[in-house]
Amino acid sequence: MSVRGDSSALPSRADFGPAFPAHIAIIMDGNGRWAQARGKKRVFGHKEGIASVREITTECARLGVQSLTLYAFSAENWKRPPLEVRYLMQLLRLFLVQERRTLMENQVRLGAIGRLDKLPKAAREELERTIAQTAGNRGMLLRLALSYGSRSEIADALRRIVSEARAGRLSPEQIDEESLRGYLYDPHTPDPDLLIRTAGELRLSNFLLWQASYSELHVTECCWPEFRAPQLHEALRAYAARTRKFGGLEPRPSANGTPA
Ligand code: FPP
Repeated sequence: MSVRGDSSALPSRADFGPAFPAHIAIIMDGNGRWAQARGKKRVFGHKEGIASVREITTECARLGVQSLTLYAFSAENWKRPPLEVRYLMQLLRLFLVQERRTLMENQVRLGAIGRLDKLPKAAREELERTIAQTAGNRGMLLRLALSYGSRSEIADALRRIVSEARAGRLSPEQIDEESLRGYLYDPHTPDPDLLIRTAGELRLSNFLLWQASYSELHVTECCWPEFRAPQLHEALRAYAARTRKFGGLEPRPSANGTPA
């Protein structure tokens, strides 16, 4: 364990053993419930959620996670009351401006997936600015899923595949799992190894359905505004205890050395 100046112990990557996730994806749920349980408006929970985003991003970068994908606004979230949507978009813009410094200090590169053209112009511009400013950073990739839905991602991919085929640049025989991946929003980032959901719901909510096929799931009752470094460490410890088989068999040594 490394020790911070204030003498509180911080784990290092080695403390989690050899099974350490390269890519973590998080469904940040429970902001509204957390606020309402404290007699506050739902938006108070979103505001407090920003502090968790900052702490988790910094801690993942420190530990050497390669990619962190946060479900910040789903394609379905546009159905929320207009005031809440407006607040979330303002919060996104503020986050992008205020966190640039922290992202630069931690060598974090920002990326985004989703139907970004649906975002309000002001938020989109700040997003593009922060992506450009952090593009040269060599540390972790922080991907924000914004106006994101897996079904629309797959529909968008199919639309592009069909137009390529119509133009004679693609034949049905060329379509396989890997070529299809090439049409998703971000084909270059490897699939998430660990998918965390806060606030206890046992569903994927249209998040990375293709990419999370073999992700290890970790669901915690903790609401997002309370999900901080110790809760992340707990998820990493749970991940380290899993056996990943990807549909194959767990390697089991037999007495004579041949597979059991
Ligand atoms: C789910 O909580 C969370 C969201 C819909 C948005 C997540 C947004 C943030 C954490 C803040 C903004 C983040 C960035 C990166 C700018 P909920 O409101 O659905 O909670 P509930 O299920 O308790 O109602």
